Amino acid sequence: MSDEIKKGLLGIVVDETEVSKVMPEINSLTYRGYAAQDLCAKCKFEEVAYLILNGELPNKNQLKKFENQERKERKLSNTILQDIKRFPKTAHPMDVARTVVSIMGLEDKETKDNSIEANMRKVMRIFAKTPVALAAFYRVRKGKKIISPKKNLSFSENFFHMCFGKVPNKEIVKAFDVSLILYAEHSFNVSTFTARTITSSLSDIHGAITGAIASLKGPLHGGANEEVMHMMNKIKKPENALKWINKALDNKDVVMGFGHRVYKSGDSRVPTMREYFGKVAKIKKDKKYEKIYDIVEKVMIDRKNIHPNVDYPTGPTYHLMGFDTDFFTPIFVISRITGWSAHIIEQYAANKLIRPLASYKGNKHRKVLQLNQR
Ligand SMILES: CC(C)(COP(=O)(O)OP(=O)(O)OC[C@H]1O[C@@H](n2cnc3c(N)ncnc32)[C@H](O)[C@@H]1OP(=O)(O)O)[C@@H](O)C(=O)NCCC(=O)NCCS
Repeated sequence: MSDEIKKGLLGIVVDETEVSKVMPEINSLTYRGYAAQDLCAKCKFEEVAYLILNGELPNKNQLKKFENQERKERKLSNTILQDIKRFPKTAHPMDVARTVVSIMGLEDKETKDNSIEANMRKVMRIFAKTPVALAAFYRVRKGKKIISPKKNLSFSENFFHMCFGKVPNKEIVKAFDVSLILYAEHSFNVSTFTARTITSSLSDIHGAITGAIASLKGPLHGGANEEVMHMMNKIKKPENALKWINKALDNKDVVMGFGHRVYKSGDSRVPTMREYFGKVAKIKKDKKYEKIYDIVEKVMIDRKNIHPNVDYPTGPTYHLMGFDTDFFTPIFVISRITGWSAHIIEQYAANKLIRPLASYKGNKHRKVLQLNQR
């Protein structure tokens, strides 16, 4: 067998999937064959979640049933609620998400049952409860009372309600919904591959999603949307942007929110999210971040020919919506649970243990000396 190394599995096709694909012929990310931006224009997040999990868009009855199931599963156990109150207030909410999904696995009576039916029921519980747990932590760490989920609110409306105690206007909710649709799925990215790797040993779905959350946290993956905001805060005002970005490039710094392993001439999700970022900025009457955004983007393209990825517009959009910066990646989590779950179910259905090889470059064989001889 050849020892040629493909670091980062660059360019290696490791399995098949029916969940999503970046289709070059339409230059777009597609879920189950539908372009993500088309879904953003015509669907709410719950319809897309159903599509990703079930393979087809729902009709009205299927959607109603799916929404009812999600709303019914929102309630957290008392144990989890008490645990959230005891977590260090300084904990990163991504670590809270990871821990809470893991605790859900302790409590779930079907943890060991990996049948498709049981897995779909578990997915619904993880999908419904994770945002509730995150919103509870959002409140607790600010010393505020936890707000219970409301059954008459959509997935996105309910998240605003639980974090802020109110639902913003329809355009803001739509922008949030769009961000969730764009974040829902992206084939064999790091966190999804992590989830599939964990699944490949026939471990359980809670473990696979817990691992995926840990993977998503990193700044080279989901954590980039937070880093974008830190960068914009460092830049402070549009007048500083040109000097800041040129200096960063002179220093050969990695600029967060730019570049992608798959898209080399632009992430197809960016134009849609950029449009909604603009809408939110207009509603909030705050154009500062848009100005910084445009200047940094122009220099990145002019000097490096590196285009923004979807984390670039979502960062400032979530900031303008009022979310704390360390909640940006957890918002990514509540959406990507759908994509991870579809992949986990696909992996179970046609499993092969994922176990690559390594080219060994350590010591040659040597004999162990007794402790007193070393
Ligand atoms: C996403 C990312 C990890 C893709 O990495 P990759 O496919 O392995 O591509 P590479 O890191 O090898 O990048 C290729 C070249 O472009 C440069 N580059 C890529 N992204 C860059 C960025 N964001 N800022 C500056 N330079 C960048 C690299 O330095 C490298 O230059 P070199 O050939 O002179 O060494 C990378 O673009 C990155 O770190 N981006 C910032 C983090 C981010 O936004 N992540 C979210 C992804 S959705």
